[in-house]
Amino acid sequence: MSVVSTKTVGNIAIIVIDNPPVNALSHAVRSGVSEQIAINDENDNVDAIILSCAGRTFCAGADITEFGKPPMSPSLPDIIDEIEMVNTPVIAALHGTALGGGFELALSCHYRIMDTAAKVGLPEVNLGLIPGASGTQRLPRLVGVEVALDMICSGKPISAEKALKIGAVDRLSLDDLETETLAFAQELLADKSPLKRIRDITIEAAPGAIEKYRQKIARKSRGFLAPFAAIRAVEAAATLPYDEGLKVERQEFMTLISSSHSIAQRHLFFAERLAGKVPGIDKKTPLRDIKEVAVIGGGIMGCGIAVNFLNKNLPLTLLEVTEEALETARSKIEGIYLSSVNKGRMTDDQMQKCMDQLTFTTQYDDLSTADLIIEAVFEDIDVKKQVFTKLDQVAKQGAILATNTSFLDINDIAASTSRPRDVIGLHFFSPAHIMPLLEIVRTKNSADDAIATALKIGKIIGKTSVVSGVCYGFIANRMSSCYGREAGLLLLEGASVSEIDQTLFDFGMPMGMFSMLDMAGIDIGVMARKNMMVGSYDDKAFLVHDALVASGKKGQKTGSGFYIHDPATKSKTENPEVEELAVKIAEEHGIKRREINAQEIEDRCIYALINEGFKIVEEGIALRASDVDVVFAHGFGFPRYRGGPLHYAEQVGLEKVLKRINEFADLYGSKWWTPSKLLVENSRKN
Ligand code: 3HC
Repeated sequence: MSVVSTKTVGNIAIIVIDNPPVNALSHAVRSGVSEQIAINDENDNVDAIILSCAGRTFCAGADITEFGKPPMSPSLPDIIDEIEMVNTPVIAALHGTALGGGFELALSCHYRIMDTAAKVGLPEVNLGLIPGASGTQRLPRLVGVEVALDMICSGKPISAEKALKIGAVDRLSLDDLETETLAFAQELLADKSPLKRIRDITIEAAPGAIEKYRQKIARKSRGFLAPFAAIRAVEAAATLPYDEGLKVERQEFMTLISSSHSIAQRHLFFAERLAGKVPGIDKKTPLRDIKEVAVIGGGIMGCGIAVNFLNKNLPLTLLEVTEEALETARSKIEGIYLSSVNKGRMTDDQMQKCMDQLTFTTQYDDLSTADLIIEAVFEDIDVKKQVFTKLDQVAKQGAILATNTSFLDINDIAASTSRPRDVIGLHFFSPAHIMPLLEIVRTKNSADDAIATALKIGKIIGKTSVVSGVCYGFIANRMSSCYGREAGLLLLEGASVSEIDQTLFDFGMPMGMFSMLDMAGIDIGVMARKNMMVGSYDDKAFLVHDALVASGKKGQKTGSGFYIHDPATKSKTENPEVEELAVKIAEEHGIKRREINAQEIEDRCIYALINEGFKIVEEGIALRASDVDVVFAHGFGFPRYRGGPLHYAEQVGLEKVLKRINEFADLYGSKWWTPSKLLVENSRKN
């Protein structure tokens, strides 16, 4: 059956694209649309054409799987031109998410009607691209330069209400989209409405507006190519005739599509979706019903975790040991919501609705109706085991018992219950209501349906989930501790805090290692290492950290750590004590201090990550290399335009990476630098 067909209702032809799951504009769809538009335009019995889609959504864009393959005619820009130039009015009927090329297709139509629940947007920047089928030329003509810049550079879709307000669509459909589109078409015909061709609209930008916008996004879009290319293309729309502007768009699009940035960002797009698929767990596995949630522990982590579920209006019980601790937890959660209200991200009513779902208790018995219980108490194996023993006594049969531990052995925790099949890890990242990553830890006994349900829960609360096996620190923290180890050693060997941080920032990380430690609290790592086996990490790498914490300098929260923080100006300066400590500790350990260049800093930190990432895949802790990339991109802000550590390694060249790791093994010893067997193997295949 063809993916594009026409049905006729009186004098109106309805072209229907049916290419599940998201009606991507594959070659077959493009050919079909081109053919059906021409046939219906030539048909004297057809007075108007409706362009619509079957299934859950209007076209969600170009078919990303076709990128990087030889182009096949007709191209999307070709059919978009054809549609706009026909003499029969064409009306796009939008539902679901009309994104990228899908929205561009709608913009080529003479009119647009949209379901109230639908969204439209140009998210190409998320793939390291710009709209490449006239979106950068048409959208500014329709909604103005600044609004278009916002939509194209942020990539964020907008609601139907907003789309109508800014003039991106002509009408909203409040009930049945097809019926209302047919009525709209008849109205247009009766009114002899002209064919509105967006290309004919002339626009100009307010003086300085484009430059101002470029500066506005400079910080947020640091390192990315696409947002700045998008600005150049929109600038062309505002300053050049339509066809000339289109040439600028095409050139920018073609440069980006083969760039390492877009290849990396497309890799992450598919990696994120693949991460939700677990070999051996059928996607039809019946899921457990999660109607009530409980969180044990009202610290920063527990409160952040709770907010994820309250946001989705799921009833949640929070357990703490004392009434005072509960009161503190209540204020923390209220604080999170008040900050959202103050920033205009939610209304008082929405906040109240979330808070109404929250109950507090000091009694384990009150958790007996919860379907999912997440423990977020102190990071101590004995404390956690006691909690799980109690949970085993009170939790209902079939409840999922999850721990938010960042490092501990969940097999061991599960063994403290009589139902290890129900025990999993749900490892959130701080701040838990904001950070997008969720590590779902599968123990040797975790039931398949518990893991499948956890993946579903991750989706409901808007997280990107990755399944990890049990090992110290799982995927994220195990890799991060190697990265931190090298930063710590470099400090002893002579690099300064700011040199290391600046190098990592320049590589594209949101902040350097020491800024991150100061922000998170240096004491957290110190406490975590107390649970580690002696010899399982390089203790000298963290001696400066230990000394700072011992003297009360735990980072931002105490006013100083690796930096001295000024809360008034939110500025920071390097803490001179750190160098004194580094010199002293280096001397005690016979480490010769020297000048260290930025390349070595980058290679040591990033290649340590890469090597550990390969080991994690080799040991089966991660299901696949791309999962490691997703973890580091979402958990630690590894620059998306580098696609995650293991994709980046491929781009650098595995042989080159291996050679450098071997050099480090010769220089700094094989204990921490033995290359992963998988890396060695894969580098031979390259
Ligand atoms: N091309 C090919 N496959 C696509 C696709 C696309 N544009 N968009 C989604 N898919 C696939 C996904 O890979 C996934 O496949 P899988 O089931 O094998 O894993 C399947 O469709 C379902 O996708 P999701 O799991 O993401 O489904 P959701 O319901 O959660 O989300 C969505 C739907 C909001 C449409 C989301 O898929 C999405 O954001 N898609 C990408 C939209 C996009 O970036 N469009 C621009 C493309 S570039 C372009 O158009 C260039 C043009 O300007 C020339």
